[in-house]
Amino acid sequence: YEAKIDLSDMEKGTYPYYMLKEIDEQPATMRRIISEYTDETGAVAVDQELLTSLLASDRIYIIACGTSYHAGLASKQIIEQLSQIPVEAHLSSEFGYNMPLLSQKPFFIFLSQSGETADSRQVLVKTSEMGYPSLTITNVAGSTLSREATYTMLLHAGPEIAVASTKAYTAQIAVLTVLAKAVGEAKDVLSAKSFDLPMELGIAANAMDVMINEKELISQLAIDYLSTTRNAFYIGRSEDYYVSMEAALKLKEISYIQAEGFAAGELKHGTIALVEDGTPVIGIITEAVTAPHTRGNLREVESRGAHTLVIVSEELSKEGDQIILPVVHQFLRPLVSVIPGQLIAYFATLERGYDVDKPRNLAKSVTVE
Ligand code: G6P
Repeated sequence: YEAKIDLSDMEKGTYPYYMLKEIDEQPATMRRIISEYTDETGAVAVDQELLTSLLASDRIYIIACGTSYHAGLASKQIIEQLSQIPVEAHLSSEFGYNMPLLSQKPFFIFLSQSGETADSRQVLVKTSEMGYPSLTITNVAGSTLSREATYTMLLHAGPEIAVASTKAYTAQIAVLTVLAKAVGEAKDVLSAKSFDLPMELGIAANAMDVMINEKELISQLAIDYLSTTRNAFYIGRSEDYYVSMEAALKLKEISYIQAEGFAAGELKHGTIALVEDGTPVIGIITEAVTAPHTRGNLREVESRGAHTLVIVSEELSKEGDQIILPVVHQFLRPLVSVIPGQLIAYFATLERGYDVDKPRNLAKSVTVE
């Protein structure tokens, strides 16, 4: 692979922080992924040998850290539905020491923005020794994980400078969706054949633009809910739970608010004890089946004094909901629902007076185990 870095990508331009620039670049990244991974007929195209290797596998193991791990979690259902191959997402730092019993024909996918994370590399070295095929999905051509894996797919997100990862997360989900669509199509899976990925990803990119243009609203909400609080919760079910984990991580990393992304249904089994007067609880609701249940959980915490905020898909929205997400294909909802969480973290951090791009104690790429 040729590293194609446009130096203007490294400039902040008129942006006060890289993180805001990188949040804004997400729709363009989606469009770039469509053009990089489709052929002249508009069909999804991935490396043929990679495809053959995946078709021969009976289980996909996604290995990653931090935000990349959250992208793996958010993509599990999408990949399973499109490819009909079971998927497990694992933390690199756990997998290395505590490897689960593997299937007969495992295929390993390493998700890493930097392609340099030592915890992930440690697993790759081990699985390569065991002779298993691997794919690194990374933003950095020629990175260590890319060189050492059997195959590479690039995120095409452009350099990500802010420590808190944003565009790499959505790019990872999009590239995994491309891959799953290609596998499903090759296997004649109906849900893959009927999923017009270039069109749906284009619609999702437009929806991301709509959310990105809600900065004024989201900044005001971040100030109202998070300017002085010590802790906060994001809650959701299913995919919305995984996005909650990522939204909470963003908030922790840069605003230093103790934030937790929680499975809404699990709150009552312990964590609800932490809710007191004024505790911010942000609910993410994008699925019709889980919507009434998450709303029920929001009412429960509200009656205990929580300051609740709702991020909800338009078709499920009710009067009084604060952040409305445009409707997109069900597979692509995490791409849109994560954006308010990224912006909330950004604006809460500005309000609290911290350096958005360089949070304390964190590094962009962690090359020690
Ligand atoms: C570091 C960064 C995180 C990132 C994680 C994984 O901890 O601070 O933002 O998600 O590493 O990085 P990778 O480059 O492997 O995706």
